[in-house]
Amino acid sequence: MEEKIQRKDAQKYFRAQKAENGLETLVVREFELEDKLEVQQLFHDGLMEMVADTAFRGLRHHPESLLLYAAMTVLCYVITTCWWVILLLPASLLYGRYFYSRRMMLRFLEHAMSNDMGDIEGFYMKSSSRLWVAVLRGKVVGIVAAVGQQQSGGAVELRRMSVARSYRRCGVGLALGQKLVEFAVTHKYPSVVLGTTSYTSAAHRLYRRLGFHLVGFTDGYVTPGVRWCSLEGVFYRVRHHHYKLDVQEESLDH
Ligand SMILES: CC(C)(COP(=O)(O)OP(=O)(O)OC[C@H]1O[C@@H](n2cnc3c(N)ncnc32)[C@H](O)[C@@H]1OP(=O)(O)O)[C@@H](O)C(=O)NCCC(=O)NCCS
Repeated sequence: MEEKIQRKDAQKYFRAQKAENGLETLVVREFELEDKLEVQQLFHDGLMEMVADTAFRGLRHHPESLLLYAAMTVLCYVITTCWWVILLLPASLLYGRYFYSRRMMLRFLEHAMSNDMGDIEGFYMKSSSRLWVAVLRGKVVGIVAAVGQQQSGGAVELRRMSVARSYRRCGVGLALGQKLVEFAVTHKYPSVVLGTTSYTSAAHRLYRRLGFHLVGFTDGYVTPGVRWCSLEGVFYRVRHHHYKLDVQEESLDH
């Protein structure tokens, strides 16, 4: 409830600022050391939101998992001939999906914290990498990072996009994405690429809005930091969507 009020406040604030003086008060700037805890918290929150997304929304994108669960239910019913198996087993399978999705996200978080997100200053304050924060009224409300690929002609990878729940649908994600595209144009990278396992329409629409095109996907993607085992194969299957934006073409068009 409190969050809903906060979100409405943030949207009202944005609209009022635009209407009154046309000034955009949202500031997108490079990461500074004192932002570290807020940045890590935003990254953590965005990631943990994906647990339910992966466990439940993801299910309709994976008919092979649905088929496997149906076969397991039928088999258990045939073996036990108990009617309650038909109710109990699907509920247990859904719980299993939630449990394993959460476990995978925590492992991925641990992996990221022992790499770039634990040492943001060491990783992103380099010439080929950046992390930007969106700041509103002194508070960090969004983050995005860029990693320039080393090989000549390499692309920039967009990662770690996350916006605080109360400040969504206010243009923060768009402002962060545009900052990253500007970076790619300035540094003469040919394209920006990204991969996402998100099934929410918010992330996909944002990337399309920024001009990205879906160029493919990998089913059964192995999330970084995750050790593979057969049970996880039953409960955790994700699709990695690959997006690309040719920035030099875009900058010529405008
Ligand atoms: C995805 C995310 C970054 C979007 O941030 P945001 O600040 O709310 O996005 P914006 O307000 O800039 O929206 C830009 C456009 O994206 C689309 N969009 C954003 N949120 C949407 C939603 N919930 N439903 C439908 N479209 C949405 C719209 O086209 C929107 O433009 P419009 O408002 O003019 O229609 C945010 O929802 C988030 O942090 N999610 C959790 C973490 C995550 O999934 N990160 C991406 C991992 S790859």
